[in-house]
Amino acid sequence: MSKFRVLIVGGGAREHALTLLVSKSRLEPRIFVVSSNINPGILRLCKSSGGKYLRGKPTNPEDVLKAAKEISPDLIIIGPEEPLFSRVTDVLRNDGFVVFGPSSRTSLIEKDKGFARNLMWKYKIPGRLRYKTFTDPEEAAEYAKASGDSVVKPARQAGGRGVRVFGETAEHLSRIAREAAATYTKRLAEMIMRKYKDIESSIIVEERVEGVEYTLMTVTDGNTLISLPVVEDHPHLYPWDLGPETGGMGSISGPSFVLPFITEEEFKESTKIVKMTIKSLLNELKEKYVGAISGQMMLTSFWGPTLIEYYARFGDPEIGNLLFMIKSDFLELLDSAARGKLSSYKLEINDNIYVVNKAIAPEGYPLEREKAKGHPISVNEGEIRKLGCEILYGGVNLVDGELLTTGSRALEIVCSSEKGFEDASALAEKAINYVSTYDGYRLIHRWDIGAHSHIKIRLRKARLARLAYTRRRAKGLLMVYDWIPGKGLVFFDYSSSKSLSS
Ligand SMILES: Nc1ncnc2c1ncn2[C@@H]1O[C@H](COP(=O)(O)OP(=O)(O)O)[C@@H](O)[C@H]1O
Ligand SMILES: [Mg+2]
Repeated sequence: MSKFRVLIVGGGAREHALTLLVSKSRLEPRIFVVSSNINPGILRLCKSSGGKYLRGKPTNPEDVLKAAKEISPDLIIIGPEEPLFSRVTDVLRNDGFVVFGPSSRTSLIEKDKGFARNLMWKYKIPGRLRYKTFTDPEEAAEYAKASGDSVVKPARQAGGRGVRVFGETAEHLSRIAREAAATYTKRLAEMIMRKYKDIESSIIVEERVEGVEYTLMTVTDGNTLISLPVVEDHPHLYPWDLGPETGGMGSISGPSFVLPFITEEEFKESTKIVKMTIKSLLNELKEKYVGAISGQMMLTSFWGPTLIEYYARFGDPEIGNLLFMIKSDFLELLDSAARGKLSSYKLEINDNIYVVNKAIAPEGYPLEREKAKGHPISVNEGEIRKLGCEILYGGVNLVDGELLTTGSRALEIVCSSEKGFEDASALAEKAINYVSTYDGYRLIHRWDIGAHSHIKIRLRKARLARLAYTRRRAKGLLMVYDWIPGKGLVFFDYSSSKSLSS
């Protein structure tokens, strides 16, 4: 049996994907996991690799340190973002462990959206949006009301909750939209301040942009940065991007590193943005970023590749797509990054494959999680595997032999095809028929992920954005202005390193 021991922190679908990717390594690692729920997929992989599943709170540094001391792993991989914020990485490194995951300070790039935006302006990183942060709810509300066409967000990463886009440009409705933005901003600020005590500003109001969204996941040791294939997430609950925002109802990727609506050039530019961010972080904090850093991007008419937010981790569901895309040794990739030796790693991917990942959630998610909780799930894994698909368990818990929903996305089904997205999507639809609940409770998923009609819309949107941004570039336009009621004409100069000048 292999001597290499790896400890994975976290027990969701992302960590299940990580476990699967790592289990294929030629190092044949023994896999250990520390998590508060029991994820049946991870549990099986732990057992078959000769490892162990430990119960503990991933966000509690003492729990994780205790597990690490018991196991003496060669590498520790941190899955979710909250353990980074609560100093789990710092505590482990202090004790001499080799960890894949950024420190609490460098993970501010995700935790604090104001910090990330400020860094981008200070170091003039392309793809930056105009923004303003607030500590005072009244002031934030007043600003949101005045700016109108804007996005109101919690300044702290709040697990994908709280962001609201206010984009009413029709004159007769704009007053109502502005009032709504102000009311919402105040409510959100109070909620955020009540829930999170570890961040200074509570609200960020930023410029609203339009375009197609995609995620660029990368791995870095602080010097070298390796980009993984681009993936498109689908955050809305219902088909055609309707309904409330969720943690992601599925994702598509391929062929190769790009998507049909993202060009090779745009992929390279997006990589450059993340690279510049890593460098700027080093400059700003005098600390190397080690781990995964993902850019949640949008192709917009102003910048082309534009940053919406950073993740200090792999995206979920995005990482599921990698199961079929990565050819080289994923454990070695993470291990090389953690040891500062990424420059000698060669990433190989499957060039000619289309991957579709669909999440299945109990009805009620994400707005009525209590209702969505506690339903026993049945998964016919054998039939799903016969279709060549993978199963990733997420928001479930194994209790007395029964698999119960936790109220979040319960599992993901990942399928691939060399023929195209339609084919991979159809496979996923077939596979989803083998998932049900014993109590008859309804499960939902998005049939449209990977559908041709859906990709056509993305292609059209991307083409329009591309036309505009390439033209803007050709003319060298880096100045925009807005008319803000009560403030008058406000100029924004992108060659400056400050977000707001009036
Ligand atoms: N500046 C923006 N302009 C337009 N849409 C935005 C903007 N910022 C965020 N959004 C939309 O809101 C979603 C959630 O915002 P994001 O910053 O990613 O927060 P989180 O994922 O933490 O909830 C994005 O996926 C995007 O669709
Ligand atoms: Mg997001």
